[in-house]
Amino acid sequence: MDWARAKVLVTGGAGFLGANLCEALVRRGARVTALDGFLFGGGANPANLDGVDVQLVRADIREADLRPLCEGADVIFNLAAQTSHMGGQRDPLADIAVNAVAQVRLIQAAREAAPEAVVVHASTRQFYGRPRYLPVDETHPVAPPDANGVSKFAGEQYWMIEHRTAGRPVVSLRLTNCYGPRLRIRDARQTFLGIWIRCVLEGRPFEVWGGDQLRDMAYVDDVTEAFLLAASTPAAHGQVFNLGGAPPASLREIAELTVKMAGAGASFTTREFPSDRASIDIGSYHADDSAFRAATGWAPQVALEQGIARSLDWYRPRLAAYL
Ligand SMILES: NC(=O)c1ccc[n+]([C@@H]2O[C@H](COP(=O)([O-])OP(=O)(O)OC[C@H]3O[C@@H](n4cnc5c(N)ncnc54)[C@H](O)[C@@H]3O)[C@@H](O)[C@H]2O)c1
Repeated sequence: MDWARAKVLVTGGAGFLGANLCEALVRRGARVTALDGFLFGGGANPANLDGVDVQLVRADIREADLRPLCEGADVIFNLAAQTSHMGGQRDPLADIAVNAVAQVRLIQAAREAAPEAVVVHASTRQFYGRPRYLPVDETHPVAPPDANGVSKFAGEQYWMIEHRTAGRPVVSLRLTNCYGPRLRIRDARQTFLGIWIRCVLEGRPFEVWGGDQLRDMAYVDDVTEAFLLAASTPAAHGQVFNLGGAPPASLREIAELTVKMAGAGASFTTREFPSDRASIDIGSYHADDSAFRAATGWAPQVALEQGIARSLDWYRPRLAAYL
């Protein structure tokens, strides 16, 4: 992929992963349109695109005319989503309207305006549900634990149908927990690590719920690289892939590393996993992402300790914009 000549649409482009992707694309010389509705109390933040030379379009994929935005695109990175699990439980109609119905709107618009575009779709490990075995590969049964898992699975499958029936090059990446600069840290809506980062930077103890659950945290630069490679590797097109990150670590170990990297004064307490979330909790998860590694040569470069340190350094001078 010659990014310097590429026209790219990033949906969800003002969010956590989308804005990091926009920055990487602009650095490579791409012409980027970032579409974002700044919705659902997710990761959207105008500060995410500070100094990033994109055309930002504030619009809702449920109702905007998507054809002009797709017009002439070489690549569409499709990240816009309702991402909150509790939010999806509270309002499953809004959840499915974005994560599934609006995906069909985007598919139809892209068919007319960007028939050749490669699409990389941001999917999730969430719909595997509570893993029956670890690490989880792509043949693991799908058993969504919540409405958000259902809608994200449906959205992914509409895109894969578009590949099979219309021949569009589509790659779906089923992401694990991602973290790093531009993560929403105001509260715990976007992974536990967000609120932990806020607490240590404010000199307050943070809470670890449970502590034994395993996660293979993916640093955002590694995730961005995976999106770029997915688009530019024809052998990957037409496939769904798990994407993991660092070797699995327990929440307690991740908490200890966070405290270590934050330095003096940082601490945490442990409490029982809250009962209102236990019903949709998936327990431990880590991905078998060997298929993606084999197809693209991708491998995560950023160790957990390093990623946490880089995240803390990034937020320190910008904290006010993220609270
Ligand atoms: N961050 C993770 O750990 C993770 C894990 C698994 C999957 N994913 C997937 O990756 C993608 C990006 O996630 P993220 O963590 O950057 O979340 P995010 O909330 O930061 O980004 C999603 C963006 O989509 C926008 N959006 C939501 N509904 C919209 C609509 N109707 N119209 C236009 N824009 C809309 C939001 O405003 C937000 O900026 C999502 O599809 C998510 O499901 C993320």
